[in-house]
Amino acid sequence: GVSVAVALSRRNCADSNDSDLRTVIITKCKTYLAAHEEKSSSNNCEEIWTAFAGAFVGRDPCDVPVEAYDPLVRAVSEKPACNRMLFWSKTKDIVHQFTESKKCLVTLEDTLLGFVMNDLTWCSKNNSNETFTTGCPGWIECEKNPVRSFWNRASAAFAESACGDVTAMLNGSIATPFNVNSIFGSIEVKKFDPSRIRALKVVLVTRGNDTVTCDNSSLQHLREAIDPKLTYSCKEVPRSKILDCISDPEKPCGDCW
Ligand code: APR
Repeated sequence: GVSVAVALSRRNCADSNDSDLRTVIITKCKTYLAAHEEKSSSNNCEEIWTAFAGAFVGRDPCDVPVEAYDPLVRAVSEKPACNRMLFWSKTKDIVHQFTESKKCLVTLEDTLLGFVMNDLTWCSKNNSNETFTTGCPGWIECEKNPVRSFWNRASAAFAESACGDVTAMLNGSIATPFNVNSIFGSIEVKKFDPSRIRALKVVLVTRGNDTVTCDNSSLQHLREAIDPKLTYSCKEVPRSKILDCISDPEKPCGDCW
């Protein structure tokens, strides 16, 4: 019954050819650099692959620590987009639609590392040189899985580099828009450097019948969690207004909220 299903769902399927994950990553990396030419001379996709593989290949898929990705983070070179960095929690679809349509803000997934790894699953096995893209542990199945440790490390690096005014798009349709267990709440906010960042601007995305406002207690916790030197602000913005802005190419970014 259930245990057989779980065992089957965790069975690894090797990549159709041994280099499939490598090919996907190098191709996405080159695609990104072709679209961001200014980053081409300081990043080498083969080197990025080697640092990435070094983090998890040959390791138990529940024993890949966050620090395993330190060499990968060092292998990538990108200037932080001061005043344009967009953090998010439980708003994945709308933030990425937004940054796709308006180029004024950038999320982690719009940077080289985030773009390359977005939507991928990967793992290996203890003492193996194989890579797998299926049958890997789920996000909460074990904490030190290769995918979760990667996002924790990449998010920490993105937040550490943040500068100027930073924006966070949070979900006003859930009881706790600022969740201290999320990546945003448990990692990114703690990495904000008050000597580099001036202000945190929360955009609370609301829908018609929502009762959550900027007065929500979780947002008071967020305000208390950041350094008092940072200017904190919060604005409730209807989801429909953001969607209209996304679909109107004439509308400048600054007028979306
Ligand atoms: N199960 C599966 N995937 C999860 C889970 C989970 N329990 N928790 C997080 N994730 C993955 C998913 O890919 C999800 O879309 O992380 C993504 C973001 O999760 P959220 O809970 O929506 O937000 P948060 O944990 O705060 O992470 C978003 O981290 O990636 C960075 O810079 C980015 O600010 C952003 C933040």
